Amino acid sequence: MSEHTGSTVSVEHLVRRFGSGAERLTAVDDVSLTIGAGEVVALTGPSGSGKSTLLHLIGAIEQPDEGTVTVDGVDVTGLRRAGLARYRQRVGFVFQRYHLLPALTVLDNVLAPVLPRRGRADHLAQARDLIDAVGLAGRERALPAHLSGGQQQRVAIARALMGRPGLLLADEPTGNLDSTTGAQILDLLLGLRERHGLTILLATHEQAVAARCDRLVRLGDGRVVEDLDLTDGEDPADTYDRVARLRL
Ligand SMILES: Nc1ncnc2c1ncn2[C@@H]1O[C@H](COP(=O)(O)OP(=O)(O)O)[C@@H](O)[C@H]1O
Ligand SMILES: [Mg+2]
Repeated sequence: MSEHTGSTVSVEHLVRRFGSGAERLTAVDDVSLTIGAGEVVALTGPSGSGKSTLLHLIGAIEQPDEGTVTVDGVDVTGLRRAGLARYRQRVGFVFQRYHLLPALTVLDNVLAPVLPRRGRADHLAQARDLIDAVGLAGRERALPAHLSGGQQQRVAIARALMGRPGLLLADEPTGNLDSTTGAQILDLLLGLRERHGLTILLATHEQAVAARCDRLVRLGDGRVVEDLDLTDGEDPADTYDRVARLRL
């Protein structure tokens, strides 16, 4: 996986069903999608449209019933244990509710993905660099409860980057934050894209967030109902108007 340009992702005819009989439901219904290295894609759609499920399938947290997910040329749906563990370490995940460990300091939360080897000097140096990169230098020893929501999300982003991923999957990362703090988190992600070479797929309900991405993919009932390039040279205000006309 490239550390400098971001991963390429190719999703083909992906299907994920839940339940059985009359309760059967197709959460992701024949989704095909190609995401280029370094692209920042907003994944939108109403609640229940399949955004989280699609992120879980791409992150190999869940297995599809049909179809494939290929990341940097590797079919991750076909991976077995060792390969799967390696792949999951190389994908960053960020969630709406941060999911920090409350008893651990900022530094130890960022080190959590490598916790058994936390004492290694290179891991410590990397964690400190990431804490610096997300704007929390000096707060290494703080506990999550002593941080604001935006700061906790910054810790979660630093943690997600510990495995030096080429792909960051973010499930409504600004959903718990006020719009100013949400915009700062987006600034951070876009800056990290440049510095660390990341492809970012980000589920969101917020027009102001989606409008700053390169591309908007909208789901409806598990299917792609819209796929818009937002980089085609308009000024940002026009892009915002265009996204604002959509129901996310
Ligand atoms: N583990 C699960 N078991 C049963 N149904 C699920 C499960 N996860 C998601 N679903 C259903 O799949 C559909 C898509 O859910 P989800 O991917 O969470 O949508 P979104 O993130 O867009 O709100 C919803 O109808 C949801 O209830
Ligand atoms: Mg969701």
